[in-house]
Amino acid sequence: MHNVRTVAVIGLGYVGLPTAALLARAGFDVQGVDRDPEIIAELEAGECRLSEREVAAIVRDAIASGRLSVAANAEPADAFIICVPTPVTPGGGADMSMVEAAINAAAPAIAAGALVILESTSPIGATRDVIASALVARGLDPEADVDIAYCPERVFPGATVREILRNDRVVGGLTERAASRAKLFYRSFCEGGVVTASAETAEFAKLMENTFRDVNIALANAFALIAEDAGVDVMEVIGAANRHPRVDVLSPGPGVGGHCIPVDPWFLIDRFPEAASLMRMSREINDGQAARLLGRLEEAGLPSGSTVAILGAAYRGNLDDARESPTIRLLSALADRGYAWRVHDPHVRRMSAPGGIDAILSDDLTATLAGADAAMIMTDHSAYRMLSPDKFDGMSGRLIADGRRVLHVQAFVEAGYTVVPLGAPLARAGV
Ligand SMILES: NC(=O)c1ccc[n+]([C@@H]2O[C@H](COP(=O)([O-])OP(=O)(O)OC[C@H]3O[C@@H](n4cnc5c(N)ncnc54)[C@H](O)[C@@H]3O)[C@@H](O)[C@H]2O)c1
Repeated sequence: MHNVRTVAVIGLGYVGLPTAALLARAGFDVQGVDRDPEIIAELEAGECRLSEREVAAIVRDAIASGRLSVAANAEPADAFIICVPTPVTPGGGADMSMVEAAINAAAPAIAAGALVILESTSPIGATRDVIASALVARGLDPEADVDIAYCPERVFPGATVREILRNDRVVGGLTERAASRAKLFYRSFCEGGVVTASAETAEFAKLMENTFRDVNIALANAFALIAEDAGVDVMEVIGAANRHPRVDVLSPGPGVGGHCIPVDPWFLIDRFPEAASLMRMSREINDGQAARLLGRLEEAGLPSGSTVAILGAAYRGNLDDARESPTIRLLSALADRGYAWRVHDPHVRRMSAPGGIDAILSDDLTATLAGADAAMIMTDHSAYRMLSPDKFDGMSGRLIADGRRVLHVQAFVEAGYTVVPLGAPLARAGV
């Protein structure tokens, strides 16, 4: 038996809020806890700021049902789930300050018999070092009195509800009893398989998953660089290579974004710098892609001080999320090299770029392109896949960098454009 009827979910963001709503839908009495008073006020008013329609619907239903209430501080409960952010520090390590703040604030409400689960992506050892230590300080024995487990989230933004419910999970317990209890708990509201392990194994597994993606994207980006130098099209080469039954090369692009893939490898690199040298190099390759694409545009004739229209702020197609997006790195490169810019995105409404960089967004493509000297496609939104050359008529220049390989290059060349396709040689009339 998991012996859980009441649950406090701490951190009501992309992961915590849908988890809280799904728990409420499964019949648990759920408190959603967040330190942001605006989030609490919105949820109390029955509003949900997350734009995924299915998430917003289950959140509204959960609040209306009375099974999900929200507050700034956790009350006593049978289970506590921590889903607060774990960004990278400026020095490249894991910033666990929000997890520490969350467990310390919740500790007075945690009594013997509670199940305490950390879902935030964390370095190896964090469940023991941060969660267990905070409960020891509260006078609880982390093995005898409470059940502490680490259960990383694997959701894919855009399919959050389906993935929380159906993905397999790895549950790492500080003790076997904690792992078994956490497994029963997840089984009570999720359909995917649950593997039990030690907390350290589960922590490492989560970091390994996203590092695997990052390194493989870096490999595709290195292939793109070779293809540009060799004068062939990397997409054609990848298509051919992937016919091999045991090969699956990923797609190259102008970088990776989101709060997982570009972040999580650092939690390994920071602790194991020598063993993780491949991971560090992969991070450098992926983070350098946006500036590299700009460099190719410069070689193709981008006039100094000109204005670049950027198509796409989101880190992935058809998403409204610009966190850690390659466009943010492109803005830094443009600022460093003295260019002006405008950013278009059909989905993203908010974007924050560091260093006082102005990243005002528009959803008007014609206005964004009007008078621009060049355009750079940074996101594979469906809306960009159907673009024909006449949509770019208002530009004053005729240079386009296609970082996502969405354009029909020949049509643009015939219309008088010079196209710099990522992973393929420059294309212009007569070349
Ligand atoms: N978003 C994803 O798709 C995803 C996928 C897998 C793993 N993760 C991991 O899950 C964790 C949470 O990510 P997220 O995307 O949901 O973050 P988020 O930024 O969307 O939301 C986090 C919420 O936690 C709140 N918060 C911060 N500190 C708090 C505290 N001390 N007490 C109470 N509330 C606090 C914030 O106000 C915010 O509302 C991170 O470790 C992330 O790496 C996220």
